[in-house]
Amino acid sequence: MNQAVAAVDERRQWDRLMAMARIGAIAGDGVNRACLTELDRQARRLLIAWAGEIGADVSIDAAANLWLRRQGADPEAAPVVTGSHMDTQPNGGRFDGIYGVIAGLEALTALHRSGTALRRPVEVVAWTNEEGGRFAPGCMGSMSWSGFRRIEDFADVLDPDGVRFADALASHLASETDLPDRPLGGRPHAYVEAHIEQGPRLEAEGLDIGVVTGIQGSRWFTVTLTGETAHAGTTPLAMRRDAVQDMVRAIAALNTLMHDPQDVLRFTVGRIAVEPNTSNSVANRASFTIDLRHPDKDVLLARGDAIAGVVQAAMRGASVSVQENFHALPVEFSPRVIDAVERAASEQRRGHMRLPSGAFHDAQFVVPVCPTGMIFVPCHKGISHNPAEYSEPSQLAAGTCVLAQTLTELASN
Ligand code: GLV
Ligand code: MN
Ligand code: MN
Repeated sequence: MNQAVAAVDERRQWDRLMAMARIGAIAGDGVNRACLTELDRQARRLLIAWAGEIGADVSIDAAANLWLRRQGADPEAAPVVTGSHMDTQPNGGRFDGIYGVIAGLEALTALHRSGTALRRPVEVVAWTNEEGGRFAPGCMGSMSWSGFRRIEDFADVLDPDGVRFADALASHLASETDLPDRPLGGRPHAYVEAHIEQGPRLEAEGLDIGVVTGIQGSRWFTVTLTGETAHAGTTPLAMRRDAVQDMVRAIAALNTLMHDPQDVLRFTVGRIAVEPNTSNSVANRASFTIDLRHPDKDVLLARGDAIAGVVQAAMRGASVSVQENFHALPVEFSPRVIDAVERAASEQRRGHMRLPSGAFHDAQFVVPVCPTGMIFVPCHKGISHNPAEYSEPSQLAAGTCVLAQTLTELASN
């Protein structure tokens, strides 16, 4: 067995995951660690302390993406990068995102402890704001790193308390001035991200490893309706411009638009806000989000482009605007990385299958920059974005062993 793989320590990795899970712990074993909060900072400082134990170089870029680097024999060679995100959903679990960061650190630790000499540097990245739970959309750190969007484009995004993204980012960066800056962007040799599957397939098949082939496309929209507030007891229905009633009609019409007998398309209305939000006032304002996903680009584009017209047609009294704030087309991963992950899983005699990802990941935005792939490990009943999210310590360690071997192969040549 590869020496670095033999040095992967299941216990150390699990203990670190549980230490991270205490930062922002909520009832039912969950975690609420929103990006660029004090809790996010505490988690990052803990990661930095662990990186210090193995002499990794730490740096931060203008999007607050945090980088840990192990030098290679050829420091000029493009690095092999792994990582994921440390923020969670408001009602999130203990593994989504943080597993990929801790698995990367564990692989780096194993390379260090085993004295494995590699030609290329290996870097672990913790991307800023993958979830989009505090500041929408997600993947701001990886989108701005890859040049898909500029970090400045997100400056005026507000969190639910009215804090601007630019202000949260600036105050975070100001609290991290002891860390060397690095340029935003780069051209790694390859990128491979470990993550829990967030779906039920690996567990159902009794397999250890998902060799991820690509990620379906996603589009996010915010629909905002403006009506007129009025007295609930005195205003005849015919005289109302009721934003909530029009919103209900719009969502019903969208359910018809998004109907898919094959149940491949994903359509979610996950956030609704109403003003003035009292029982006895007709709403003058209502807004709701749409999360639309599909593996076929043409379906994603056609259904997404039809949203504005369908919503407009559903209005009786309110006016409406539709804003798109996230647009990620489906991607396919690099055969080179897919094959390296598959080879590592086979050589380690771990049951594995190829599968696409239904969730989006930072890896989606790394695809245009360098050969990219992902490794999935099973999670209990596929539960995710939920405090009950769970993977066994041994399942998580198996993914890290495959990651360590994949990194070793990719960083050797
Ligand atoms: C990522 O968190 C996603 O929503 O797919
Ligand atoms: Mn994630
Ligand atoms: Mn997530």
